[in-house]
Amino acid sequence: MSANDDVPVIPRPVEAERLDGAPFTLAPGARVSVAGAGAADVAELLVAELASDCRRDLSIVHEPPAYGDIAIVIAPDETPEPHRAEGYSLAVTAEGVRIGAASAAGAFWGVQTLRQLVPVECASDPLTIAPVSIHDHPRFGYRGAMLDVARHFFTPDEVKRFIDAIVLLKVNHLHLHLTDDQGWRIHIESWPNLTAHGASTGSDGSAGGFYTQDEFRDLVAYAAARQVTIVPELDMPGHTNAALASYPELNASGIAPLLYTGSKVGFSTLLSDDETTKRFLADVIGEVAALTPGPYLHIGGDECLSTSPADFLTFIAHAAALVAATGKTPAGWHEMGTSDQLPEGTVGQYWDFVVPRGSSADETLSFVRQGGAVIMSPADVAYLDIVYEDGDRLGQDWADGPTTVRGAYVWDPARIVPGLGDAHILGVEAPVWTETLATIDDVEEMVFPRLAAVAEVGWSTAPTDTESVETARDFDAFAPRLAALGQHWAAAGTNFRRVPEVPWRESVTV
Ligand code: ACM
Repeated sequence: MSANDDVPVIPRPVEAERLDGAPFTLAPGARVSVAGAGAADVAELLVAELASDCRRDLSIVHEPPAYGDIAIVIAPDETPEPHRAEGYSLAVTAEGVRIGAASAAGAFWGVQTLRQLVPVECASDPLTIAPVSIHDHPRFGYRGAMLDVARHFFTPDEVKRFIDAIVLLKVNHLHLHLTDDQGWRIHIESWPNLTAHGASTGSDGSAGGFYTQDEFRDLVAYAAARQVTIVPELDMPGHTNAALASYPELNASGIAPLLYTGSKVGFSTLLSDDETTKRFLADVIGEVAALTPGPYLHIGGDECLSTSPADFLTFIAHAAALVAATGKTPAGWHEMGTSDQLPEGTVGQYWDFVVPRGSSADETLSFVRQGGAVIMSPADVAYLDIVYEDGDRLGQDWADGPTTVRGAYVWDPARIVPGLGDAHILGVEAPVWTETLATIDDVEEMVFPRLAAVAEVGWSTAPTDTESVETARDFDAFAPRLAALGQHWAAAGTNFRRVPEVPWRESVTV
């Protein structure tokens, strides 16, 4: 255990030191003092948290802090290069709390650290925080979660609740898997039947649903205010039964298949080299790109078992070029790396196991050869819909399940694909597929606590060259920090699985 393990924060900060001296006490009349562009917006979110969680009513002032205030300062020299994009410092002393950062993102992550240090019993006096000094920055710029809203649909409010929960872990990308065989979830003005028909059901005959473009824009803005980039995915050419069912002219036979509510994969495909399909692709990619201020548009490319290899290559080259023409960076699952016609910079997402099988490693390196980078989502540790234990009510077990919390923690993204190191890894992402997950409570039970493990893998310092992953990811030091976080989840109403590997504490009534 190193010194910063006894500061109960996840992801583990790069440097965290407990200080001697009196704690900080939040006194009535304490204010949030802000300086620098973006600091007031970050302060608003902190004040809202303190109001809802701790029933404290703090004002925001644009003046230097007084004794006992919380200061948020954004200025270039607050964080050294190369950590200005997301780095921050946090000092807690009797005099006050001070968060310093060179960016609003850094300041917001500093606030998330502070939230974990505020005791959950914060509604009663005195509210004190033990003195500490933290200097922190992420290892990877991309720390993602993926929510499959295609199999089971989740409302905008449920997605916002999910965003609120992931930011506590400094997860900064939310990949929304918007389309699949079971449903098409984003309204497309030029192809309205995609949602009028194709969104009307979901897995197991669930009700379905979709986001209007206004709802989607609102979600993007809600996420952006919390430093989260939405990555929309239109999965193609496979996983497209909902689209094929909505428009007969997308089918070679001219006959639309029935809607599908089962859990099979690999039976549907869009056509390659077909004029109607090309018009469809240009329209849907164009509309989704226009709704997306973020840099990435994900076009899937996985499990195309009903597309011939030649058609797959033709399709992917065309669809990826359409994405690039909108100014977005195409992203896709690693199978897309079979193409050597990807636009420069295309991002690959690795979803094979921690020990690569077949051609997955080479397909992944293909993105690097074509000037791109890779997101690591090894399914046997980072797929959060995999069961925790044999016989679980929720989840699947195909990815070498069960996946324990320890399993989700003890791995390293730079030790999976030979030749793929930090320089070409954008970051990590933990997907949750929802074939078996009908409610947002179900989703949260699968995601928490394992997302905390993956978030730490993506944020915290890399193992040294001579260190084993088992040594670097000391589960015995992680588990008590998880137990502390569990109290915050319980207080926030976030559902999580109380796995026996973690010494959870009794939840506190606040
Ligand atoms: C996948 O799990 N089919 C990307």
